[in-house]
Amino acid sequence: MKIMVIGGGGREHAIIKKLNESEQVTEIFALPGNGGIAKDAKCVDIGAKDIPKIVEFAKENSIEFAVVAPDDPLVLGAVDALEDAGIPCFGPCANAAIIEGSKVFSKNLMKKYGIPTAEYEVFDDMEKALDYIKTAPIPTVIKADGLALGKGVIIAQTREEAEDAVKSMMADKIFGESGSRVVIEEFLTGPEVSVLSFTDGKTVVPMVSSMDHKRALDGDQGLNTGGMGTVAPNPYYTDDVAKECMDKIFLPTINAMAEMGRPFKGCLYFGLMITEKGPKVIEYNCRFGDPETQVVLPLLESDLFEIMKAVREERLSEVEVKFADENACCVVLASKGYPKAYDKGFEIKIGELEDNADYYIAGAKLENGKLLTNGGRVLNVVAKAQSLEQAISDAYKAAQSITFDNAYCRKDIGQRALQALKK
Ligand code: AMP
Ligand code: GLY
Repeated sequence: MKIMVIGGGGREHAIIKKLNESEQVTEIFALPGNGGIAKDAKCVDIGAKDIPKIVEFAKENSIEFAVVAPDDPLVLGAVDALEDAGIPCFGPCANAAIIEGSKVFSKNLMKKYGIPTAEYEVFDDMEKALDYIKTAPIPTVIKADGLALGKGVIIAQTREEAEDAVKSMMADKIFGESGSRVVIEEFLTGPEVSVLSFTDGKTVVPMVSSMDHKRALDGDQGLNTGGMGTVAPNPYYTDDVAKECMDKIFLPTINAMAEMGRPFKGCLYFGLMITEKGPKVIEYNCRFGDPETQVVLPLLESDLFEIMKAVREERLSEVEVKFADENACCVVLASKGYPKAYDKGFEIKIGELEDNADYYIAGAKLENGKLLTNGGRVLNVVAKAQSLEQAISDAYKAAQSITFDNAYCRKDIGQRALQALKK
Protein backbone atom coordinates (compact mmCIF):
# COMPACT_ATOMS: atom_id res chain seq x y z
CA MET A 1 0.00 0.00 0.00
CA LYS A 2 1.39 3.35 -1.11
CA ILE A 3 0.51 6.07 1.35
CA MET A 4 1.04 9.77 1.83
CA VAL A 5 1.30 11.78 5.05
CA ILE A 6 0.63 15.51 4.91
CA GLY A 7 2.72 17.62 7.29
CA GLY A 8 6.33 17.95 8.30
CA GLY A 9 6.97 18.04 12.04
CA GLY A 10 7.80 15.70 14.92
CA ARG A 11 4.20 14.52 15.07
CA GLU A 12 4.30 13.49 11.41
CA HIS A 13 7.63 11.74 11.94
CA ALA A 14 6.09 9.73 14.79
CA ILE A 15 3.09 8.83 12.62
CA ILE A 16 5.36 7.80 9.74
CA LYS A 17 7.62 5.63 11.91
CA LYS A 18 4.56 3.87 13.32
CA LEU A 19 2.99 3.37 9.89
CA ASN A 20 6.26 1.87 8.66
CA GLU A 21 5.77 -0.93 11.20
CA SER A 22 2.63 -2.05 9.38
CA GLU A 23 3.09 -4.97 7.01
CA GLN A 24 0.56 -3.48 4.63
CA VAL A 25 2.49 -0.26 4.14
CA THR A 26 5.03 -0.51 1.34
CA GLU A 27 5.90 3.10 0.60
CA ILE A 28 5.34 6.42 2.39
CA PHE A 29 5.53 9.90 0.91
CA ALA A 30 5.68 12.94 3.21
CA LEU A 31 4.40 16.30 1.93
CA PRO A 32 6.53 18.23 2.70
CA GLY A 33 8.22 16.13 5.44
CA ASN A 34 11.61 17.44 6.56
CA GLY A 35 15.30 16.59 6.42
CA GLY A 36 14.99 14.08 9.27
CA ILE A 37 11.78 12.47 8.07
CA ALA A 38 13.63 11.82 4.79
CA LYS A 39 15.20 8.73 6.42
CA ASP A 40 11.78 7.13 6.87
CA ALA A 41 9.71 8.47 3.96
CA LYS A 42 10.16 10.06 0.55
CA CYS A 43 9.81 13.80 1.10
CA VAL A 44 8.07 15.81 -1.60
CA ASP A 45 8.40 19.57 -1.71
CA ILE A 46 4.68 20.41 -1.58
CA GLY A 47 3.37 22.53 1.30
CA ALA A 48 0.76 21.07 3.65
CA LYS A 49 -1.71 23.82 2.71
CA ASP A 50 -1.28 23.53 -1.06
CA ILE A 51 -4.35 21.38 -1.56
CA PRO A 52 -4.54 21.43 -5.39
CA LYS A 53 -0.91 20.28 -5.65
CA ILE A 54 -1.43 17.62 -2.97
CA VAL A 55 -4.38 16.18 -4.90
CA GLU A 56 -2.46 16.28 -8.18
CA PHE A 57 0.51 14.50 -6.59
CA ALA A 58 -1.74 11.82 -5.10
CA LYS A 59 -3.39 11.11 -8.44
CA GLU A 60 -0.18 11.11 -10.46
CA ASN A 61 1.53 8.78 -8.01
CA SER A 62 -1.38 6.39 -7.45
CA ILE A 63 -1.49 7.09 -3.71
CA GLU A 64 -3.83 4.56 -2.10
CA PHE A 65 -4.33 6.19 1.30
CA ALA A 66 -3.63 9.64 2.76
CA VAL A 67 -3.18 10.84 6.34
CA VAL A 68 -3.75 14.55 6.81
CA ALA A 69 -2.10 15.52 10.10
CA PRO A 70 -1.99 19.35 10.63
CA ASP A 71 -4.94 21.58 11.48
CA ASP A 72 -4.69 24.02 8.55
CA PRO A 73 -5.19 21.59 5.66
CA LEU A 74 -7.95 19.81 7.60
CA VAL A 75 -9.83 23.05 8.24
CA LEU A 76 -9.23 24.11 4.63
CA GLY A 77 -10.81 20.90 3.29
CA ALA A 78 -7.85 18.74 2.24
CA VAL A 79 -9.75 15.56 3.12
CA ASP A 80 -12.80 16.65 1.14
CA ALA A 81 -10.66 17.40 -1.91
CA LEU A 82 -8.71 14.13 -1.72
CA GLU A 83 -11.80 11.99 -1.14
CA ASP A 84 -13.51 13.73 -4.09
CA ALA A 85 -10.54 12.71 -6.18
CA GLY A 86 -10.95 9.10 -5.04
CA ILE A 87 -8.13 9.00 -2.47
CA PRO A 88 -9.23 7.43 0.85
CA CYS A 89 -8.13 9.57 3.80
CA PHE A 90 -7.65 9.50 7.55
CA GLY A 91 -8.82 12.83 8.93
CA PRO A 92 -12.04 14.80 9.30
CA CYS A 93 -13.81 16.67 6.50
CA ALA A 94 -13.84 20.47 6.80
CA ASN A 95 -17.37 20.51 8.19
CA ALA A 96 -16.11 18.45 11.16
CA ALA A 97 -12.64 20.02 11.44
CA ILE A 98 -14.47 23.23 12.33
CA ILE A 99 -14.56 21.85 15.88
CA GLU A 100 -10.99 23.19 16.06
CA GLY A 101 -11.28 25.80 13.31
CA SER A 102 -13.84 27.88 15.19
CA LYS A 103 -13.86 28.29 18.96
CA VAL A 104 -17.32 29.85 18.67
CA PHE A 105 -18.57 26.70 16.93
CA SER A 106 -17.09 24.41 19.58
CA LYS A 107 -18.30 26.51 22.52
CA ASN A 108 -21.82 26.67 21.09
CA LEU A 109 -21.77 22.91 20.48
CA MET A 110 -20.80 22.26 24.10
CA LYS A 111 -23.47 24.61 25.39
CA LYS A 112 -26.19 23.08 23.21
CA TYR A 113 -25.33 19.52 24.21
CA GLY A 114 -24.50 20.16 27.87
CA ILE A 115 -20.83 19.19 27.57
CA PRO A 116 -18.87 20.62 30.55
CA THR A 117 -16.68 23.60 29.64
CA ALA A 118 -15.85 27.11 30.88
CA GLU A 119 -18.68 29.69 30.87
CA TYR A 120 -18.27 32.12 27.98
CA GLU A 121 -19.55 35.00 25.87
CA VAL A 122 -18.94 35.60 22.15
CA PHE A 123 -18.22 39.05 20.69
CA ASP A 124 -17.85 40.33 17.15
CA ASP A 125 -18.05 43.95 18.26
CA MET A 126 -14.98 45.28 20.04
CA GLU A 127 -16.80 47.95 22.04
CA LYS A 128 -19.16 45.35 23.48
CA ALA A 129 -16.21 43.10 24.35
CA LEU A 130 -14.46 45.99 26.12
CA ASP A 131 -17.65 46.83 27.99
CA TYR A 132 -18.01 43.24 29.13
CA ILE A 133 -14.44 43.21 30.44
CA LYS A 134 -15.21 46.10 32.79
CA THR A 135 -17.13 43.71 35.04
CA ALA A 136 -15.85 40.26 34.01
CA PRO A 137 -14.23 38.11 36.70
CA ILE A 138 -10.41 38.38 36.60
CA PRO A 139 -8.31 36.47 35.53
CA THR A 140 -10.20 36.05 32.30
CA VAL A 141 -9.41 34.12 29.13
CA ILE A 142 -9.62 35.67 25.66
CA LYS A 143 -9.59 33.42 22.61
CA ALA A 144 -9.48 34.29 18.93
CA ASP A 145 -12.27 32.43 17.12
CA GLY A 146 -10.15 31.00 14.31
CA LEU A 147 -6.83 29.16 13.97
CA ALA A 148 -3.89 31.18 15.28
CA LEU A 149 -0.90 28.82 15.17
CA GLY A 150 -1.75 27.66 18.68
CA LYS A 151 -1.20 31.19 20.02
CA GLY A 152 -4.75 32.54 19.98
CA VAL A 153 -5.36 32.21 23.73
CA ILE A 154 -4.49 35.02 26.14
CA ILE A 155 -4.94 34.61 29.87
CA ALA A 156 -5.35 38.13 31.26
CA GLN A 157 -4.39 38.61 34.90
CA THR A 158 -5.68 42.19 35.04
CA ARG A 159 -8.45 44.22 33.40
CA GLU A 160 -5.83 46.20 31.47
CA GLU A 161 -4.30 43.03 30.08
CA ALA A 162 -7.75 41.84 29.07
CA GLU A 163 -8.46 45.13 27.28
CA ASP A 164 -5.10 44.98 25.49
CA ALA A 165 -5.79 41.41 24.44
CA VAL A 166 -9.16 42.29 22.96
CA LYS A 167 -7.75 45.32 21.14
CA SER A 168 -4.77 43.40 19.78
CA MET A 169 -7.04 40.68 18.40
CA MET A 170 -10.00 42.75 17.21
CA ALA A 171 -8.42 46.07 16.16
CA ASP A 172 -4.74 45.33 15.49
CA LYS A 173 -5.66 41.89 14.08
CA ILE A 174 -2.51 40.19 15.39
CA PHE A 175 -4.08 36.87 14.35
CA GLY A 176 -5.60 38.26 11.14
CA GLU A 177 -9.25 37.47 10.50
CA SER A 178 -9.07 34.71 13.17
CA GLY A 179 -9.51 37.48 15.74
CA SER A 180 -12.49 39.30 14.25
CA ARG A 181 -14.64 37.30 16.64
CA VAL A 182 -13.47 36.46 20.15
CA VAL A 183 -14.62 34.20 22.94
CA ILE A 184 -14.16 35.57 26.46
CA GLU A 185 -14.37 32.79 29.00
CA GLU A 186 -14.17 31.83 32.60
CA PHE A 187 -10.69 31.07 33.95
CA LEU A 188 -10.57 27.48 35.17
CA THR A 189 -7.97 25.83 37.35
CA GLY A 190 -6.80 22.27 37.74
CA PRO A 191 -4.38 19.83 36.13
CA GLU A 192 -4.59 19.51 32.36
CA VAL A 193 -4.89 16.22 30.52
CA SER A 194 -4.66 15.57 26.78
CA VAL A 195 -6.68 12.67 25.42
CA LEU A 196 -6.34 11.83 21.73
CA SER A 197 -9.01 9.51 20.42
CA PHE A 198 -9.74 7.54 17.30
CA THR A 199 -13.28 7.99 16.09
CA ASP A 200 -15.17 6.96 12.97
CA GLY A 201 -18.14 9.18 13.76
CA LYS A 202 -19.97 6.44 15.70
CA THR A 203 -17.41 4.73 17.92
CA VAL A 204 -14.83 6.60 19.96
CA VAL A 205 -11.70 4.90 21.28
CA PRO A 206 -9.53 7.04 23.56
CA MET A 207 -5.79 6.50 23.30
CA VAL A 208 -3.50 6.50 26.32
CA SER A 209 -3.73 9.89 28.08
CA SER A 210 -0.83 12.35 28.16
CA MET A 211 0.45 15.57 29.71
CA ASP A 212 1.90 18.42 27.70
CA HIS A 213 4.36 21.03 29.02
CA LYS A 214 3.49 24.20 27.16
CA ARG A 215 5.67 26.82 28.81
CA ALA A 216 9.22 27.48 27.62
CA LEU A 217 11.00 27.34 30.99
CA ASP A 218 11.28 24.94 33.94
CA GLY A 219 8.57 25.13 36.57
CA ASP A 220 5.97 26.10 33.93
CA GLN A 221 7.44 29.57 33.62
CA GLY A 222 8.09 31.68 30.55
CA LEU A 223 6.24 32.01 27.29
CA ASN A 224 3.73 29.60 25.85
CA THR A 225 5.23 27.33 23.18
CA GLY A 226 3.96 24.60 20.89
CA GLY A 227 4.94 22.14 23.66
CA MET A 228 8.32 21.42 25.28
CA GLY A 229 7.69 17.81 26.26
CA THR A 230 5.11 15.22 27.18
CA VAL A 231 4.57 12.14 29.30
CA ALA A 232 2.05 9.32 29.01
CA PRO A 233 -0.05 8.17 30.70
CA ASN A 234 -1.16 11.23 32.67
CA PRO A 235 -1.56 10.31 36.37
CA TYR A 236 -4.45 12.75 36.79
CA TYR A 237 -6.47 10.73 34.31
CA THR A 238 -7.66 8.07 36.72
CA ASP A 239 -10.16 5.34 35.81
CA ASP A 240 -12.95 7.36 37.43
CA VAL A 241 -12.03 10.49 35.48
CA ALA A 242 -11.80 8.40 32.30
CA LYS A 243 -15.29 7.03 32.82
CA GLU A 244 -16.73 10.46 33.51
CA CYS A 245 -15.01 11.83 30.38
CA MET A 246 -16.42 9.02 28.24
CA ASP A 247 -19.99 9.55 29.51
CA LYS A 248 -20.08 13.34 29.72
CA ILE A 249 -17.61 14.48 27.07
CA PHE A 250 -16.36 11.96 24.50
CA LEU A 251 -19.58 10.19 23.52
CA PRO A 252 -21.75 13.33 23.72
CA THR A 253 -19.29 15.16 21.44
CA ILE A 254 -19.18 12.38 18.82
CA ASN A 255 -22.96 12.02 18.91
CA ALA A 256 -23.51 15.77 18.69
CA MET A 257 -21.28 16.05 15.63
CA ALA A 258 -23.09 13.15 13.95
CA GLU A 259 -26.48 14.65 14.80
CA MET A 260 -25.44 17.98 13.29
CA GLY A 261 -24.57 16.22 10.03
CA ARG A 262 -20.85 16.66 10.70
CA PRO A 263 -19.64 13.14 11.57
CA PHE A 264 -16.07 13.37 12.87
CA LYS A 265 -13.75 10.75 11.39
CA GLY A 266 -10.09 10.83 12.35
CA CYS A 267 -8.26 11.75 15.54
CA LEU A 268 -10.20 13.99 17.87
CA TYR A 269 -8.08 15.57 20.59
CA PHE A 270 -9.72 16.51 23.87
CA GLY A 271 -7.82 19.15 25.84
CA LEU A 272 -9.25 18.71 29.34
CA MET A 273 -8.92 20.38 32.69
CA ILE A 274 -9.71 18.35 35.79
CA THR A 275 -11.47 21.00 37.88
CA GLU A 276 -12.98 20.64 41.34
CA LYS A 277 -16.32 20.24 39.58
CA GLY A 278 -15.00 17.46 37.36
CA PRO A 279 -13.38 17.31 33.93
CA LYS A 280 -14.12 20.18 31.54
CA VAL A 281 -13.17 20.75 27.92
CA ILE A 282 -10.55 23.47 27.41
CA GLU A 283 -10.28 22.87 23.69
CA TYR A 284 -10.90 20.39 20.92
CA ASN A 285 -8.30 19.78 18.21
CA CYS A 286 -9.29 18.05 15.00
CA ARG A 287 -5.98 16.17 14.79
CA PHE A 288 -3.17 14.42 16.62
CA GLY A 289 -1.50 16.69 19.19
CA ASP A 290 2.12 17.71 18.95
CA PRO A 291 4.13 16.62 21.02
CA GLU A 292 1.46 14.30 22.54
CA THR A 293 1.60 11.97 19.52
CA GLN A 294 5.29 11.44 20.19
CA VAL A 295 4.53 9.67 23.51
CA VAL A 296 1.19 8.12 22.57
CA LEU A 297 2.09 6.29 19.36
CA PRO A 298 5.23 4.61 20.73
CA LEU A 299 2.93 2.93 23.28
CA LEU A 300 0.49 1.72 20.60
CA GLU A 301 0.85 -2.02 20.10
CA SER A 302 -1.81 -2.43 17.42
CA ASP A 303 -1.32 -1.73 13.71
CA LEU A 304 -1.83 2.03 13.19
CA PHE A 305 -2.58 1.62 9.50
CA GLU A 306 -5.31 -0.99 10.25
CA ILE A 307 -6.90 1.43 12.71
CA MET A 308 -6.74 4.36 10.30
CA LYS A 309 -8.29 2.29 7.53
CA ALA A 310 -11.04 1.12 9.89
CA VAL A 311 -11.78 4.72 10.88
CA ARG A 312 -12.08 5.69 7.21
CA GLU A 313 -14.39 2.71 6.57
CA GLU A 314 -16.48 3.34 9.70
CA ARG A 315 -15.70 0.00 11.29
CA LEU A 316 -13.54 1.14 14.19
CA SER A 317 -15.51 -1.09 16.58
CA GLU A 318 -14.14 -4.15 14.74
CA VAL A 319 -10.41 -3.49 15.19
CA GLU A 320 -8.11 -3.83 18.15
CA VAL A 321 -6.61 -0.66 19.65
CA LYS A 322 -4.15 -1.80 22.29
CA PHE A 323 -1.63 0.22 24.25
CA ALA A 324 1.38 -1.12 26.17
CA ASP A 325 1.07 -0.92 29.92
CA GLU A 326 4.18 1.26 30.05
CA ASN A 327 5.18 4.90 30.40
CA ALA A 328 6.71 7.22 27.83
CA CYS A 329 8.48 10.57 28.09
CA CYS A 330 9.27 12.98 25.27
CA VAL A 331 11.78 15.80 25.66
CA VAL A 332 11.78 18.52 23.02
CA LEU A 333 15.21 19.76 22.00
CA ALA A 334 14.67 23.32 20.85
CA SER A 335 16.82 26.14 19.52
CA LYS A 336 17.93 28.53 22.24
CA GLY A 337 15.65 31.57 22.14
CA TYR A 338 12.51 29.70 21.02
CA PRO A 339 9.61 30.69 21.02
CA LYS A 340 11.17 34.07 20.21
CA ALA A 341 14.06 34.65 17.80
CA TYR A 342 16.65 31.88 17.40
CA ASP A 343 19.49 30.98 15.05
CA LYS A 344 19.39 27.98 12.78
CA GLY A 345 21.65 26.01 10.49
CA PHE A 346 23.60 24.09 13.17
CA GLU A 347 24.57 20.50 12.42
CA ILE A 348 22.64 17.83 14.34
CA LYS A 349 24.64 14.77 15.36
CA ILE A 350 22.76 11.68 16.40
CA GLY A 351 24.59 8.97 18.33
CA GLU A 352 23.52 5.46 19.30
CA LEU A 353 20.31 5.22 21.32
CA GLU A 354 19.20 2.38 23.58
CA ASP A 355 16.46 0.07 22.27
CA ASN A 356 13.78 1.74 24.41
CA ALA A 357 14.55 5.20 23.01
CA ASP A 358 13.84 6.86 19.68
CA TYR A 359 13.79 10.33 18.15
CA TYR A 360 11.57 12.32 15.82
CA ILE A 361 12.77 15.30 13.82
CA ALA A 362 10.59 18.41 13.90
CA GLY A 363 12.58 21.26 12.38
CA ALA A 364 15.62 20.26 10.33
CA LYS A 365 16.80 20.23 6.74
CA LEU A 366 19.31 18.14 4.83
CA GLU A 367 22.13 20.02 3.14
CA ASN A 368 25.03 18.22 1.46
CA GLY A 369 24.22 15.12 3.47
CA LYS A 370 24.24 17.01 6.78
CA LEU A 371 21.18 17.43 8.98
CA LEU A 372 20.90 21.09 10.02
CA THR A 373 18.58 22.75 12.54
CA ASN A 374 15.82 24.63 10.78
CA GLY A 375 13.18 25.50 13.35
CA GLY A 376 12.37 26.42 16.93
CA ARG A 377 11.46 22.95 18.04
CA VAL A 378 14.22 20.90 16.42
CA LEU A 379 13.56 17.35 17.54
CA ASN A 380 11.91 15.08 20.08
CA VAL A 381 13.67 12.41 22.10
CA VAL A 382 11.39 9.69 23.44
CA ALA A 383 11.92 6.77 25.80
CA LYS A 384 9.55 4.13 27.14
CA ALA A 385 9.91 2.16 30.35
CA GLN A 386 7.96 0.28 32.99
CA SER A 387 7.95 3.26 35.35
CA LEU A 388 7.51 6.95 34.62
CA GLU A 389 10.67 7.71 36.56
CA GLN A 390 12.68 5.38 34.34
CA ALA A 391 11.10 6.73 31.15
CA ILE A 392 12.04 10.28 32.15
CA SER A 393 15.58 9.37 33.06
CA ASP A 394 16.05 7.32 29.86
CA ALA A 395 14.65 10.13 27.68
CA TYR A 396 17.12 12.61 29.19
CA LYS A 397 19.94 10.09 28.82
CA ALA A 398 19.06 9.59 25.14
CA ALA A 399 18.94 13.36 24.70
CA GLN A 400 22.63 13.47 25.59
CA SER A 401 23.43 11.36 22.54
CA ILE A 402 21.94 13.97 20.23
CA THR A 403 23.81 17.24 19.94
CA PHE A 404 23.68 20.54 18.10
CA ASP A 405 24.90 24.05 18.93
CA ASN A 406 22.45 26.28 20.80
CA ALA A 407 20.32 23.34 21.92
CA TYR A 408 17.88 23.99 24.75
CA CYS A 409 15.48 21.74 26.60
CA ARG A 410 13.42 21.92 29.77
CA LYS A 411 14.99 19.85 32.52
CA ASP A 412 11.76 19.08 34.37
CA ILE A 413 9.58 17.25 31.85
CA GLY A 414 7.45 14.75 33.77
CA GLN A 415 8.29 16.06 37.25
CA ARG A 416 4.75 17.27 37.91
CA ALA A 417 3.40 13.89 36.88
CA LEU A 418 5.91 12.14 39.15
CA GLN A 419 4.83 14.32 42.10
CA ALA A 420 1.19 13.48 41.39
CA LEU A 421 2.01 9.76 41.44
CA LYS A 422 3.70 10.11 44.84
CA LYS A 423 0.67 11.78 46.41
P1 AMP B 1 -4.91 26.45 23.70
O1 AMP B 1 -4.06 27.35 22.85
O2 AMP B 1 -6.34 26.48 23.37
O3 AMP B 1 -4.29 25.10 23.80
O4 AMP B 1 -4.81 27.04 25.17
C1 AMP B 1 -3.57 27.24 25.73
C2 AMP B 1 -3.62 27.03 27.19
O5 AMP B 1 -4.38 28.06 27.79
C3 AMP B 1 -4.32 25.75 27.66
O6 AMP B 1 -3.50 24.64 27.58
C4 AMP B 1 -4.64 26.13 29.09
O7 AMP B 1 -3.50 25.98 29.89
C5 AMP B 1 -4.94 27.59 28.97
N1 AMP B 1 -6.40 27.83 28.97
C6 AMP B 1 -7.22 27.86 27.91
N2 AMP B 1 -8.49 28.10 28.29
C7 AMP B 1 -8.47 28.23 29.65
C8 AMP B 1 -9.46 28.49 30.66
N3 AMP B 1 -10.73 28.68 30.34
N4 AMP B 1 -9.04 28.55 31.93
C9 AMP B 1 -7.74 28.38 32.26
N5 AMP B 1 -6.78 28.14 31.37
C10 AMP B 1 -7.13 28.06 30.07
N1 GLY C 1 0.10 20.01 22.17
C1 GLY C 1 -1.04 20.78 21.88
C2 GLY C 1 -1.48 20.77 20.49
O1 GLY C 1 -1.11 19.94 19.69
O2 GLY C 1 -2.27 21.63 20.14
